[in-house]
Amino acid sequence: MSQLNRRSFAALTGLTGLSALLSRPNAAAAMSDASAMPLAIQSNNATPARTRALRFAHFTDLHITPDRPSEPGMKQAFETAQADGIEMILTGGDLIMDSFATKRAQVDREWALLHKLFAEHCKVPVEHCLGNHDIFGFCLSKAGLKGDESDFGYARALAELKLAARWRSFDRNGWHFIVLSSVERDPKDECGYLAYLTDEQRAWLEADLAATKLPTVVVSHVPIITVTPAVRGGETERKNDQTVISGGLVHLDAPTVHGVFRKAGNVKLVLSGHTHLIDRCVADGVTYCCSGAVCGGWWKPHKTYCEPTYALIDLFSDGTFDYSVKPTGWTNP
Ligand SMILES: [Fe+2]
Repeated sequence: MSQLNRRSFAALTGLTGLSALLSRPNAAAAMSDASAMPLAIQSNNATPARTRALRFAHFTDLHITPDRPSEPGMKQAFETAQADGIEMILTGGDLIMDSFATKRAQVDREWALLHKLFAEHCKVPVEHCLGNHDIFGFCLSKAGLKGDESDFGYARALAELKLAARWRSFDRNGWHFIVLSSVERDPKDECGYLAYLTDEQRAWLEADLAATKLPTVVVSHVPIITVTPAVRGGETERKNDQTVISGGLVHLDAPTVHGVFRKAGNVKLVLSGHTHLIDRCVADGVTYCCSGAVCGGWWKPHKTYCEPTYALIDLFSDGTFDYSVKPTGWTNP
């Protein structure tokens, strides 16, 4: 997430869902413990006979930079997750501290450190998702770009990570994974952004889901559904007796995307980051989880945001899953 200006919207539909959620005892507990750890979740229909198909880690909001202790912090996170027996890391975006509004020389340093850390400490396959801070120079004035550079925007991160496209899917051990790309430019604010799926991406999502019967995990950087704005404050405002949530904080098209998941029927777990907080919401059988942040509060002690965390996820061959948020073992000095 970011302190960048965000155009706001009244999330009336989302708040209707939130209201229903808050009436549930478990949801209320999740909210009140939104920055606490660990948060363990067992999906519905769990049985003792389940066969584990894949154990992986969701690493979101790494915010790697040589200017803060992300090197020892990331080393510890890799060691902790790999000691847990993970077979894959699925990142959640905001991989580097910032390239959205940062000059090229600093962006070069951050990507260089990211590559060094993954090369030295990561022993399992990695699948990357991109966040707002991984987009190069959308804020032209602060990045010192014109916008016609060959690595402007998403191009830089795609090249750094050798990705062919912003959104994609893949299968692993009997499960389907969908990686979404949440962040678009805000036409009314040069240094702002909005979270939604373009028509092209939404059509791709619908077609991709229609082509698989496998149980599915979705990851986006910006949450599609989350209760974290109600927890933290400062990101919502009361306006004309409505609660207004920034369109850069939560997906503007949440009802539409959730409708796509409902129609597909096989989307089990939807992961996100961005808020640096921990929560879970269950809506119509789809579980939405914010997995905190590997960097905690941007590699500094912070009263509001979570401690350095990652999510440990077991997927089972019967389509169920276990999800828990764990400390990385690193404490920001
Ligand atoms: Fe972030």
